[in-house]
Amino acid sequence: MSHEIPQSRHVVQFPGPRSVELMQRKQAAVAAGVGTTMPVFATRAGGGIVEDVDGNRLIDLGSGIAVTTVGASNPRVAAAVAEQVQAFTHTCFMITPYEGYVAVAEALGRLTPGDHDKRTALFNSGAEAVENAVKIARSYTGKQAVVVFDHAYHGRTNLTMAMTAKNMPYKHGFGPFASEVYRAPLSYPFRDSGVDGAAAAQRAITVIEKQVGAANLAAVVIEPIQGEGGFIEPADGFLPALADWCRANGVVFVADEVQTGFARTGDLFACDREGVVPDLIVTAKGIAGGLPLSAVTGRAEIMDAPHGGGLGGTYGGNPIACAAALAAIETIEADGLVERAREIEALLKRRLDALQSDDARVGDVRGRGAMIAVELVQPGTTEPDAALASAVAAYAHQRGVIVLTCGTFGNVLRFLPPLTISDELLEDAFDVVAEAFASTREAVSA
Ligand SMILES: Cc1ncc(COP(=O)(O)O)c(C=O)c1O
Repeated sequence: MSHEIPQSRHVVQFPGPRSVELMQRKQAAVAAGVGTTMPVFATRAGGGIVEDVDGNRLIDLGSGIAVTTVGASNPRVAAAVAEQVQAFTHTCFMITPYEGYVAVAEALGRLTPGDHDKRTALFNSGAEAVENAVKIARSYTGKQAVVVFDHAYHGRTNLTMAMTAKNMPYKHGFGPFASEVYRAPLSYPFRDSGVDGAAAAQRAITVIEKQVGAANLAAVVIEPIQGEGGFIEPADGFLPALADWCRANGVVFVADEVQTGFARTGDLFACDREGVVPDLIVTAKGIAGGLPLSAVTGRAEIMDAPHGGGLGGTYGGNPIACAAALAAIETIEADGLVERAREIEALLKRRLDALQSDDARVGDVRGRGAMIAVELVQPGTTEPDAALASAVAAYAHQRGVIVLTCGTFGNVLRFLPPLTISDELLEDAFDVVAEAFASTREAVSA
């Protein structure tokens, strides 16, 4: 673990003068649509800290949106990348292939759920891999429709915008969207009291059967725990029932594990918790220690359906990203990071349960592993309180803690630390989060 950066929170000035200057340059040179959560610019990151250009050291509870699971300067990843850069940066796998790509495909075949014969194709981003999973499912089934869920997030390309639920900021003004995408109701235990997993699955299946029809349906695509939609963990039994229905009806069941994969949730993949075996699994983010890489892995007969040359892209499975992925996977296995994610869950839930017990605005504490969130509401109701989520996040940022918000209603605070973070940093960060809640309560009562 790289701990060259002192592993302590330190705020000099937030934002400091160099960040202010860089932000002015950003505004003059970078498209306004590319927003930033933090007003500070990074220079170094590692362990559980992001250091900025003014010497502020921020505790990282975001991992660059669930990417730097093995840390942002993991020594194995850094060494593998350096070695690969010296050897070659690119040949294009579709022109002159190389071993790293094959080794990543082998690793994904070994690690993803199910012991059936598998194949993998590599891409660059999560959205690109989701699009390819849909292409593969359509090619295999000869059908076109795709079912996704309420609150889903699958990316920002044209097809994945259609698959994503939330209008602002992801879709607004960017239509028309791809056709043959249908939305089914999710299991959302906090807003669904009394509906268990089996009943929620039946509710979704009825919508699918009545509004789409299995005979038209190529794939059901679902995040086993929703990411941007609010870290919504469906009730037990929901995912297995949907997977069973897909199998019985000739529909490809696709797990979008772009955010949940690679130890993030305290299992190697979130589907593992209930023993769900997807036909196709989409991975990205935590796969390669910060380098852009994504994958579709699945049943050989489905993956092999598209014709030769039908899948690919100039950069997909870039050799540097593949070298990083092999090093990240080695780190997850050698350093026991699945277990570490479970320890982080225990610490975070202890802190957040304590917060909830004396603050009625914390409606729900949920998630698994190092993917934990609180949903904030008007006390005693399920009425979303997005202003509180923004106020708590802003307070934490000012005091050197990176926290992110999410959710259809913007009222979810989410915590996604790198698995290399120390308990001391987590305790310090959650002291700040607790202070942030207290300060907003004082502001209201003042
Ligand atoms: C579940 C899920 N799918 C797809 C994506 C899109 O990935 P990318 O931003 O790499 O295109 C994301 C990104 O947040 C995600 O969380």
